[in-house]
Amino acid sequence: MVDYDRERVARLFDDIARADGGSGDDPGETLTTIPALAGRVAVEKLALRPDDALLDVGTGTGDIAIAAARMCRQVIGIDVSRTSLELARIKSETEHVENVVFSYGAFEDPCAELDLSVYRITKVLAVYSLHHLPDPMKKQSLLELTGLLHRPGRMAIGDIMFFDDPDRHRDRFDEAGYDAGDTDFPSRMQYLRYCLEQTGARVQVEQIHPIVGVIVADF
Ligand SMILES: C[S@@+](CC[C@H](N)C(=O)[O-])C[C@H]1O[C@@H](n2cnc3c(N)ncnc32)[C@H](O)[C@@H]1O
Repeated sequence: MVDYDRERVARLFDDIARADGGSGDDPGETLTTIPALAGRVAVEKLALRPDDALLDVGTGTGDIAIAAARMCRQVIGIDVSRTSLELARIKSETEHVENVVFSYGAFEDPCAELDLSVYRITKVLAVYSLHHLPDPMKKQSLLELTGLLHRPGRMAIGDIMFFDDPDRHRDRFDEAGYDAGDTDFPSRMQYLRYCLEQTGARVQVEQIHPIVGVIVADF
């Protein structure tokens, strides 16, 4: 297994964003993919309210963040891909969505270029982004993110995760958008649950595919 390399992940997603211009896939198809389903279920489980401030970690080109901004007070999208962030900004301006900001930041350094403590964050979202971190970094990052969360607060993670032996589901990796690449470090679901329970959260898990789940943690 190759070690975690944030710059490498950033370059990978810069290239992907440049290639599709942030437009995503065909909209009809996007609605039905497993990654899109993970995002939709995770956002539903957040139960966003008008007074919520949402932090979207690994926001990519911002589609989920922009949609969420219509449901709450403020959204902050952070990512390590500057190209994705730039496309997200353009998209939010084009759509006249003013209560969303996009800033460089990582799971392991969320406040890299923006002081998030001023936003009074009540909800945290991570869709298909956390699996790019190796396990020990996930634990540390989740702990740090829960420190930014005001109580009562909620976190939802929709991502690739292993519920049993992943080799049993190799024929379904493609549909989950998983290619077992060397920038991917999916965890066992039990490990993610353990990390969140260690922070004192009440945790619920919904499996939506043999290797994809949505975890909700209440604080
Ligand atoms: C598959 S995309 C998902 C984007 C978005 N959440 C969505 O569902 O449309 C994964 C995103 O995670 C970001 N990412 C990877 N590692 C990260 C890290 N350590 N901190 C923050 N973002 C990261 C990537 O740059 C990329 O934009």
